[in-house]
Amino acid sequence: VLLCVCLNPAVDVTYRLPGPLAPGGSHRIASVREQPGGKAINVARVLRGLGEPARVLAPVTGRNGETVRAGLVAEGFDGADLVDVVDVPEAAGPGGTRRTVTVVAGAGEATVLNEPGPVLGEGGVSAVLERFEALLGGGTITLVVLAGSLPPGVPVEVYATLVRIAHRYGVETFVDAEGPPLRAVLAARPALVKPNLAELEATLGRRLDGPVEIAAAALGLRSEGAGEVVVSCGRDGLVAVTGAGVWRAAGPAVTGNPTGAGDALHAALARGAVRGQDWPDRLRDGVAVSAAAVAAPVAGEVDPELAGRLRGSVRLEPLDLSVPTMEEVTRAAGADR
Ligand SMILES: Nc1ncnc2c1ncn2[C@@H]1O[C@H](COP(=O)(O)OP(=O)(O)OP(=O)(O)O)[C@@H](O)[C@H]1O
Ligand SMILES: [Mg+2]
Repeated sequence: VLLCVCLNPAVDVTYRLPGPLAPGGSHRIASVREQPGGKAINVARVLRGLGEPARVLAPVTGRNGETVRAGLVAEGFDGADLVDVVDVPEAAGPGGTRRTVTVVAGAGEATVLNEPGPVLGEGGVSAVLERFEALLGGGTITLVVLAGSLPPGVPVEVYATLVRIAHRYGVETFVDAEGPPLRAVLAARPALVKPNLAELEATLGRRLDGPVEIAAAALGLRSEGAGEVVVSCGRDGLVAVTGAGVWRAAGPAVTGNPTGAGDALHAALARGAVRGQDWPDRLRDGVAVSAAAVAAPVAGEVDPELAGRLRGSVRLEPLDLSVPTMEEVTRAAGADR
């Protein structure tokens, strides 16, 4: 069973408006949808949709925490994995666990409002770590997935701590993070990190132009401790730096809702790992499943049949990262004239 740890879960509320969103205006809502959210929860949902058993470990609190719990249980997750935390200051908002509100206007463009979420605090963090160890001690966890931002009050090293605990139980970890938590997790040697291009650029503080520069930056993350690195590049697909080779892969561009495409990619890569697929297969699945996620109206509701159809048109090519010799550079410059 894959264990998806969601430190910053949310109740995702989606309002659909029949017409455009006007700042300062009053709007009638055409439909309301509410479901548990947060990146690791989205990954777990996609995994289940693909037929891969997954559990969710998340700290929840208050009325919204109960909504997350009920939603997950209704989807078939085990409510017992949710850790109740009480260490929540008033500033977090009246409902406890955060909400995100997405307003989808007539033309389909989305406006997102993110509540900051409750402060997890030292007590909350140790409650999560304790439950994490208990789950790993059960001996059924095949891979840990860490994904998403950290709630306020949590040290940036928490992902590194979780990776180290998992290692003690002989379990590998995949991480989707950015900035300081991404930097800090590398030293703990996670099996894989999956930033998107903008996150990688922000983490490194420089622009990356083209697949070769992206792959070179990914190699840098490997030298800092990441086992393998997959950089997702939106509709341009992905660049993967692995022990078995360096590739770029892309599928057909799909129109739809790209939110959560990265979570779908993460889920497909995690499934490929526990199933022991070779890297080209994992990457083809990743691109196909994430493209299918873009086509799906709701994050995490990937249609496996659509993913199967898209898989045939995924282009995968090895990337040559060898530095060109001076002679090659001169020859290339001469050929331009
Ligand atoms: N418009 C699109 N058409 C086809 N495939 C797409 C499109 N957008 C994204 N993808 C696929 O989804 C993968 C992940 O997308 P992206 O890089 O946007 O992730 P992300 O920014 O981490 O997303 P999120 O964090 O919202 O889940 C890409 O590597 C690509 O394979
Ligand atoms: Mg992402």
